[in-house]
Amino acid sequence: MSWGGGAVSPEVHAEWARRVVAEYRSAAAAQELALWLLQVGASPDLVRVAQRTAGEELDHAELSAEVLAAAGGMPPGPVHRATLALGRSGGPLEHDVLRVGVELYCVGETVAVPLFRRMLEGATVPIVRRVLTRILADEARHRRFGWELLTALLGGPDGAELRGVLAAALPGIRARVEAAYGGGSAPVTAEARGWGLLSGAAYEEELRRTTQRWYRPRFGAEGLGW
Ligand SMILES: [Fe+2]
Ligand SMILES: [Fe+2]
Repeated sequence: MSWGGGAVSPEVHAEWARRVVAEYRSAAAAQELALWLLQVGASPDLVRVAQRTAGEELDHAELSAEVLAAAGGMPPGPVHRATLALGRSGGPLEHDVLRVGVELYCVGETVAVPLFRRMLEGATVPIVRRVLTRILADEARHRRFGWELLTALLGGPDGAELRGVLAAALPGIRARVEAAYGGGSAPVTAEARGWGLLSGAAYEEELRRTTQRWYRPRFGAEGLGW
């Protein structure tokens, strides 16, 4: 399909194909985390939010595939199965629940909210606006889930031990999110902006703001550095 009189550019296809896969992986991660939460005896409320999150991420994958198709892009190939499982560290399952919960939700979903908001602000294509509006609403809930999970884990009977586990894990988590979103300067065309893409500089700016507004104060309140 063409938009505005011309074919949609390959960078738009590539980005929405990447998002289909990323959302599908998020669905698998939330599904597995929900099972882990059941296995460690987490509160039913937290388990249900994780289960609901898995369904919402699957919706995001389908919706992203709709955008990709509207742009005239080819569907991505099969997702590498190894990337659809959360790795176990070999330690207690509670440690992995904390590590994964913090990296995916406190860190990943917290920066995702302003990123999706910014994508929506620049989006002009109707289907892109519709899909980003839905995703943005869900991601704000996923962000809240992360911080509620962290509070529950650190406030529980294993809190002191888990705080130490998190202190050791945070530098690696920080390095991964900065590698993913920081240091970018790649520009984006007006057409790509209309299809919901962001420049590298925009990713970097939102990560910097999220670090100041969320990561430093929230982890700092738990006695943890970022
Ligand atoms: Fe999502
Ligand atoms: Fe999410």
